[in-house]
Amino acid sequence: MPKSNLTAAQFSKFAASRRSVRDFLPTPVPQEIIDEILTDAMTAPSWSNTRPYMVAIATGERRDRISAELVKRFDAGNAARRKGWRGKLKMALTGYGLPKSDFRIWRPYPGVLKERSYRVGAGLYNAIGVQRGDAAGRDASMRRNFEFFGAPVALFFFVHKALGEYSVSDVSLFNQNLMLSAHAHGLGTCAQGVLGLWADAVREEFAVPAEYKLVYGMSLGYPSEHVVNQFGAERLPIADILLPTK
Ligand SMILES: Cc1cc2nc3c(=O)[nH]c(=O)nc-3n(C[C@H](O)[C@H](O)[C@H](O)COP(=O)(O)O)c2cc1C
Repeated sequence: MPKSNLTAAQFSKFAASRRSVRDFLPTPVPQEIIDEILTDAMTAPSWSNTRPYMVAIATGERRDRISAELVKRFDAGNAARRKGWRGKLKMALTGYGLPKSDFRIWRPYPGVLKERSYRVGAGLYNAIGVQRGDAAGRDASMRRNFEFFGAPVALFFFVHKALGEYSVSDVSLFNQNLMLSAHAHGLGTCAQGVLGLWADAVREEFAVPAEYKLVYGMSLGYPSEHVVNQFGAERLPIADILLPTK
């Protein structure tokens, strides 16, 4: 195996300094840089080297069109919920705003997973000054997901349905390389499960083979100085994930 000059301490520092970025500058990302990052991502391991994933890259007007449609659906869903049973009935009849995802996205988190997810949500809202019970503030913060947090590049990841969870595992290895490479290029990323909510809106813009399913998306761009980017989710100690022996 070829040797790397990177020391273990340098790697630890670099890996720990990557953070999910939730506010971006509009500065475009040159295509050569996107290609370099994707090339780094392709060095990730993959089951039998099958690479059972495909990536859709949205920039410019395509990115704006997708964002506008996702925001519209998000707002339609919220408006329907606010109108009580009438709104819900209308949404059920028209279908507009209802999730159209290829995978089930919202699942209840059990036990300790719920606590962790609550802590990250509370930390994030606290960092941006959204109080508990401020539904409008939370909606506005959630809506930013569908604006790709202002990023000029949106990525969507599709996996081959035949390989089940192993295709999702492979694309996530690819994505970890992608996010670290972006970080090395001075770019920021945020993996976003919610970008899988309306797969049909993304399919409208790309020639996606029927056997490929949208699993999640990602925003990519240059991080801004916004306070949200100072938030750092807690880094759990390894003891929290190690299994005790019997
Ligand atoms: C598959 C996946 C989906 C995610 N979905 C979202 C999302 O929809 N919106 C969001 O703001 N962050 C999302 N995140 C980012 C996580 O909240 C973040 O990685 C976690 O809190 C740890 O923080 P860090 O990335 O800064 O280390 C997602 C991360 C992953 C890996």
